[in-house]
Amino acid sequence: MTLSHSPSGHSPSRRPTPAELDEMTPEQLARLAAELDDVEIVHNQRKFPIPGTRAEKRAERSVALWFVISALSGLAFLAAFLFWPYEYVAPGQPGYEVYTLYTPVVGGTFGLAVLALGIGVIAYVKKFFPDEVSVQQRHDGVSDEVDRRTVVAQLQKAGQDTGIARRKLITRAAGGAAGVFGLGLGIAAVAPLVRDPWEGGDQAALWTTGWAPVDGETVYLRRDTGVPSEISLVRPEDQEPGSIETVFPFRESERGDEEALLHALRRSDNPVMLIRLRPGTPLVLREGFEDYPYGDFVAYSKLCTHLGCPTSLYETQSQRILCPCHQSQFLATEYARPVFGPAARALPPLPITVNDEGYFVATGDMPPVGPAFWERRS
Ligand code: FES
Repeated sequence: MTLSHSPSGHSPSRRPTPAELDEMTPEQLARLAAELDDVEIVHNQRKFPIPGTRAEKRAERSVALWFVISALSGLAFLAAFLFWPYEYVAPGQPGYEVYTLYTPVVGGTFGLAVLALGIGVIAYVKKFFPDEVSVQQRHDGVSDEVDRRTVVAQLQKAGQDTGIARRKLITRAAGGAAGVFGLGLGIAAVAPLVRDPWEGGDQAALWTTGWAPVDGETVYLRRDTGVPSEISLVRPEDQEPGSIETVFPFRESERGDEEALLHALRRSDNPVMLIRLRPGTPLVLREGFEDYPYGDFVAYSKLCTHLGCPTSLYETQSQRILCPCHQSQFLATEYARPVFGPAARALPPLPITVNDEGYFVATGDMPPVGPAFWERRS
């Protein structure tokens, strides 16, 4: 069908009816789209006017290669994400080098998968989209039915012009790359949910810390001297009034066991602040936790109850413990209740005493430490 043009010569003077649109071929619709948009196609030439030439095959293979690289990188990412050893290994321990490569390997393969996919799309556009020079007059307003349908036709025609339907190698390689990439994203999103945080019931990781009693063995308070095998236990007389020390759990059964000692120092919910108040400082105790302090000593989890940062700043004059992340403050003399900032719960206390040998020991575990979670009641 033929449509008359406006006096300007750029757009049709009459809009086609839906019935007329139904009769038009995709090419007519695409051309109509250009006319409706005041687009004048000055030059349009296919990259490969004769299908099946060696040059076209070569271009096709070079594009497909990028999608294949993307698919292989995506598979490598998946394999690394699922099977590469990611658990912490200390320097000098067997497997340390492999462990340190986890993040570079996961990041590198993921990055390469995205990069190769992007390059493949760009290469396809550059190698197969027709050379076209068009001039368009800008105009405002919302697109109507005619515009929308003609734009779809234009996109279809663009696909036809590049011969995407008959380029099986490219479509399969691109489909494979996109599929692997999507699968990788899906697995990465779901994988953290596969582990059950409540495995172990009352002894599940979220309910307990490394201070929890095991077989009635004494749990000492120790310092981290920088050498895991060097056991430095804590006595009351070691600490000045008005000072703070970070302590970790230690059991005699762990002595000489490098891995267990290191684990006790690295476990994220283990660090505890041991604070010695100035003599005579009034202490307000929380109901149910009256026997947790020892004399002028109080011990609190170091994990901020807001988002889990280490709250290691103790201001002696005001008796406030500060979290540097979002400035929450807790009162050391009032069961570490929050007095400022976003944290809403007190820092969990550790029950402590001094044994017959004069060393600090823990008499039990702390209440659940760190930020809140749904199942938590306090
Ligand atoms: S993590 Fe401590 S205030 Fe936010």
